[in-house]
Amino acid sequence: MQIKIVFSRKRVKFWSSTNFYKRQLLQVKNEALDIYAKIEDLLGVKDVAPKLYSYYFFILEDLHFNSLLDIGCGSGDFLRSLAMQYPQRNLMGIDRSQVMVESAQAKGVNAVNVELDSIEEQFDIATATFDMVNYLNQDELLDFFETLAQVILKGGYFIFDINSEYGLSELAVGSFIEDDGDRFIAIESFYEDGIYDSEFTLFEKCDSLYKKSIGNIKQYLHNESFFNQLDGWKLKKRLPIKLYDMQDYDKEIYILERV
Ligand SMILES: C[S@@+](CC[C@H](N)C(=O)[O-])C[C@H]1O[C@@H](n2cnc3c(N)ncnc32)[C@H](O)[C@@H]1O
Repeated sequence: MQIKIVFSRKRVKFWSSTNFYKRQLLQVKNEALDIYAKIEDLLGVKDVAPKLYSYYFFILEDLHFNSLLDIGCGSGDFLRSLAMQYPQRNLMGIDRSQVMVESAQAKGVNAVNVELDSIEEQFDIATATFDMVNYLNQDELLDFFETLAQVILKGGYFIFDINSEYGLSELAVGSFIEDDGDRFIAIESFYEDGIYDSEFTLFEKCDSLYKKSIGNIKQYLHNESFFNQLDGWKLKKRLPIKLYDMQDYDKEIYILERV
């Protein structure tokens, strides 16, 4: 009996310290996402986003839906275009970055800064545009799909794009520096063994001084075999695309059905 009590106390202690470190890690990750949010407009992604969204619009044309949840909605451009095309549908976005959510809300987009596991409503379709799924490693992605299965109605779909190995290893590696007077950003990016690693350093002008922030964002390579064997999901289509007109395809769009 005594032994059991000691054991259970230890377990409680271990559980709470693990959760503490998980929370700390999440906070550091979210701060890095906020740095990304503050400089996304300098990276050129807004120039190619409409081309990517046009694939989603094309896919959605063939699907019947009343409600759609956009996960990692960012500054809300995809949802805003979607609302113009589908004004009567229930459209909602979530993002881990509060900075992104505020920018989406400022455009009139229904976006909130909550985690997927706190969503109680169910949706016909979920989307995750511009490589949000690459931000999750394999273990996180397994949890993500388990949670998403509770949020998407059976017969519904999850449509997302990920960076291909060519996209991660060739297109965005190296150094990037940009300065618009109010912001100076330096990014160093590497790719090794399926992990794309970006170090961000941002100097933001505050009155006559500059505030420095640093952050790290990792993206993880995932392949078709992973998405093909997920419980509760059926891979319907994988569509390799070239967003940047380079020699190889840089992204893949996936359509998974909730079964
Ligand atoms: C490259 S941006 C794409 C934003 C937007 N979907 C677009 O098309 O412009 C990736 C977004 O995913 C968000 N994000 C990353 N991991 C997330 C997670 N686990 N849950 C919710 N949002 C996440 C980031 O904060 C960021 O806004």
